[in-house]
Parts: sequence; structure tokens; C-alpha cells
Amino acid sequence: MTMKKQIILTGVQATGTPHIGNYVGAMRPMVEFSKSNDTIAFIADLHALNDVRDPKAIKQSTINCAATYIALGLDLNRTMLFRQSDVPEVLQLSSLLMNVTPKGMMNRAHAYKAVTDKNEAEGKDKDVDVNMGLYTYPILMAADILIYNSTLVPVGADQKQHIEFARDIAGSFNSIYGNIFTVPEGYIKEAAGLLPGLDGRKMSKSYGNSIQLFAPESELKKRVMQIVTDSKLPAEPKDPDSSIIFQIYSQFATDSEISELRKRFTDGGMGYGDAKNLLFEKLNSTLAGPREKYLGLLANPEQVEDILKSGAAKARPLAQETLARVKRAMLG
Ligand code: ADP
Ligand code: TRP
Repeated sequence: MTMKKQIILTGVQATGTPHIGNYVGAMRPMVEFSKSNDTIAFIADLHALNDVRDPKAIKQSTINCAATYIALGLDLNRTMLFRQSDVPEVLQLSSLLMNVTPKGMMNRAHAYKAVTDKNEAEGKDKDVDVNMGLYTYPILMAADILIYNSTLVPVGADQKQHIEFARDIAGSFNSIYGNIFTVPEGYIKEAAGLLPGLDGRKMSKSYGNSIQLFAPESELKKRVMQIVTDSKLPAEPKDPDSSIIFQIYSQFATDSEISELRKRFTDGGMGYGDAKNLLFEKLNSTLAGPREKYLGLLANPEQVEDILKSGAAKARPLAQETLARVKRAMLG
């Protein structure tokens, strides 16, 4: 069996500022992969368009996301870091892929269904507030993945369906036109699942329940103190597995630190306030170094722009090559 060269790719949507869920689910694995693999990390500004109407906000979010990657130590010698819209070929590929994508697949997409289910529950027409950018979101994401011949895609568990769709679209294209696309694999840490937010739902920019990765120290502390807990008294034994504090701590601490906190929970004797302080100290000591670097980059956005431009200059020829191959296969 010949080993195919790994090309590891992920995208982060240019909506808002990265939170610790984005870090754990996608950004930290990418930084690790970049140490010994060819990696592609892009900021999905086109994917933000179905929701964000303010160009300045999209631009600022793009800089914030890119600066986050750089501050976290993404190896720029091995990684192409760029803005999705700087490689416009992806939009052409997305249009072409529409012809092999069943409409029923899009009807099943979680993000679209969440909106239609809500509309129906409220007695409205199901497609109120649905634009075609939202409806076809998974096709553009498949184009992102396929255009760079990606083999592995690290994402949080909420993106699992999108990866399945990209695989299905690649498969149906290949069965019609021959072996054009590499069929990618997802890299999803099932054990970690999704990091909960302050209220216990998935941490998300859109739920207002997130802890920003590089929030200033005082804000970080404030957010940690806002984590919802049950009303158990300090002396009582507590269940670590249902505790948001414990789940977040587990993503940042060493195995022995995790076992120690687990024991303190189950033994009783530790209040939630102390557990929150422990979590805050852990987050702050992990993030203080990169946070300083991040703030330095935000003060010099041109430097970040230059890095994004040089990433796009490397990525674009790859995209052009794939697009040419696809057009030849489809149009002769
Ligand atoms: P958000 O849901 O906050 O808008 P994005 O959609 O931009 O975040 O997600 C960027 C990456 O971060 C994706 O790979 C996504 O799966 C991952 N991610 C987002 N939220 C979480 C979370 N709570 N836990 C783990 N990974 C997450
Ligand atoms: N949909 C992803 C998210 O919201 C972002 C994304 C866009 C992406 N294109 C991608 C992730 C390609 C991985 C691969 O998180």
C-alpha cells in the first residue's frame, strides 16, 4: 500500500473572536499538526457572509482569527495561512459541485434544519430568514476541503456532518467523472466532544456563552466566575463529569492534575469557588504568553495582512490546478 501524503486543512469562520472551544476543537490540533506536516489553515470570510452584513466586522474577525493562530505558534514555514476569499477559485468549484449535490442532502444539514425547525415551531413559513448562502454552506465547505486535495480535516464535533457531506460529494463526483478528488477524513476528538460554554450548552460565538481565548486577565476571571454550577455546598461530594468547570479544566490540565481535581470533587470539601479559581489559574498561565503576542499582532494588523497574502500566494496555484482538472473532467 502506498502512503498518501497528508495534507491537513481546517477553516475557522470569520465571525467574532476565537473562544476556548475553537481552540480546543480546531486551532490547537492544527498548531500541533503544523509542527510536522504540511498544513492549510484559512479564515472562512465567505462563510461569514450568510450572517454578517458588516464588512468591517468580517475584516476585523479575519485579523483576530489569523493573529490567534500566529500567536499560538502555528508553524508558518509548513502552513499556508490565508483568507478564504483571496483564493476565489473556491467559489467556482463550489458552483460546479452544486451539480452533483442532491438537494435532499442540503435539506438535512443541521445548521439549515435548526432554522427551519424553529420557524415551524413558531408557526412561520419554514424558510423565513434562510438565504442561499446558508442553504448551500456545506457545498462551499466541501469545495474548501476538496480544492486543496486535503486528506485530514481537524474540526470540533459539530462539524461532523459537514465532513460527511464533503466525503459524499467527492464520492459522487468521482463515480461520475473518474478519480478526481481525494476523499478526506475528519479528525474529531470524540472523547473531548464539544467544550461546554458558561451555561452548559456548546460554547459558541453565537450563544453569548463563550470564554474568549485571549480575553484580558480580569475579563477571563469574570467569565470563569460566571460558569453555572449546581447548589452543592463546599463539604458535599460533587460529580466531576457533569461539571462545566471540570470539563474545561480537563482540556488544559495534565493527567495527574485532572485525577487530582476529580478526587477533590468526589471526596467533597472543595467549593465551586475554589474550583473556579483553579480553572482560572490554569487558563491564565497557559494563555498569558500567547495573549501578549496576540495583542502585539493586533497593534500591527499590516503584519498579519502580509502573512495572509503570502499564504494565499502559495495556496492559489494549488486551487487553480484542481479547478482546471475539474473543468476538464466536466466540460472536456
Ligand atoms: P462558533 O461555533 O463559535 O461560531 P466556528 O463555527 O467558527 O465557531 O468553529 C470553528 C472551529 O471550532 C470548528 O472546527 C468547530 O467545530 C470548532 N468549535 C466551535 N465550537 C466548539 C466547541 N464548543 N468545542 C469544540 N470545538 C468547537
Ligand atoms: N464550517 C466551519 C465552522 O463553522 C468552518 C469551515 C469552513 C471549515 N470551511 C471549512 C472547517 C473547511 C473545516 C474545513 O466551524
